[in-house]
Amino acid sequence: MAKTGKVVAIAQQKGGSGKTMLAAQLAVALAESGTSVAVLDIDPQGSLTIWAKLRDSAPKAATSITCSATSGWRLTSELDKLRAAHDIVLIDTPPVIDSDARRAIRAADLVLIPLNPSPPDLWAAEGTLKLAAQEKRPVALVFNRAPAASRLRKRMEAEITARGLFLLETALANRAGYANAFADGVGVTEAGPTTQAAEEIRALANAVKSRVEE
Ligand SMILES: Nc1ncnc2c1ncn2[C@@H]1O[C@H](COP(=O)(O)OP(=O)(O)O)[C@@H](O)[C@H]1O
Ligand SMILES: [Mg+2]
Repeated sequence: MAKTGKVVAIAQQKGGSGKTMLAAQLAVALAESGTSVAVLDIDPQGSLTIWAKLRDSAPKAATSITCSATSGWRLTSELDKLRAAHDIVLIDTPPVIDSDARRAIRAADLVLIPLNPSPPDLWAAEGTLKLAAQEKRPVALVFNRAPAASRLRKRMEAEITARGLFLLETALANRAGYANAFADGVGVTEAGPTTQAAEEIRALANAVKSRVEE
């Protein structure tokens, strides 16, 4: 029987919020945990596709991650194909709300929204939140570049909870390791398996996995 893997769409209108970085890091951490992973790059900028190409010749890349890029009417059939052959498919989306974003969100078992714990990032996520609500898809927010503790972070946590939105407990700090690993076509868990960044990503990967398996 065909497998039906879970689809996680990583979406947020704000550019630079960490969508592509998260797609890459999560893909590696999930693959290391024995999950078969595919990534689908639907951002015309193609950063994740470049990362995957770098990965082909990266000495530290130890796991296999299928990467494909597509857009438009092919998106849904490509997604079905990837889903049939993998446990989890991560979609990296562009910072716009268009028909492709809708297709991705419609197909998602989870819409993962990275944001800095600050009001403008939550404002920027409104379009994605609205789309997910229209499509009745479950959402999880995740703080990225988050200070360990700050008044603003606490305030944002409270605001998110008060709105009935789900915030993942694991947050990612601002760490050069994320950007460096990405530039080398690997994940932080490969570049430095014992670093705090690696621990964070493994925790996040587990949280995402249990969320879609519920
Ligand atoms: N937690 C983080 N710590 C350090 N650098 C980060 C972090 N998250 C993202 N970055 C870097 O910020 C830049 C923008 O992230 P990116 O994933 O491309 O954002 P998006 O895809 O949402 O536009 C990239 O260079 C990325 O490596
Ligand atoms: Mg991106």
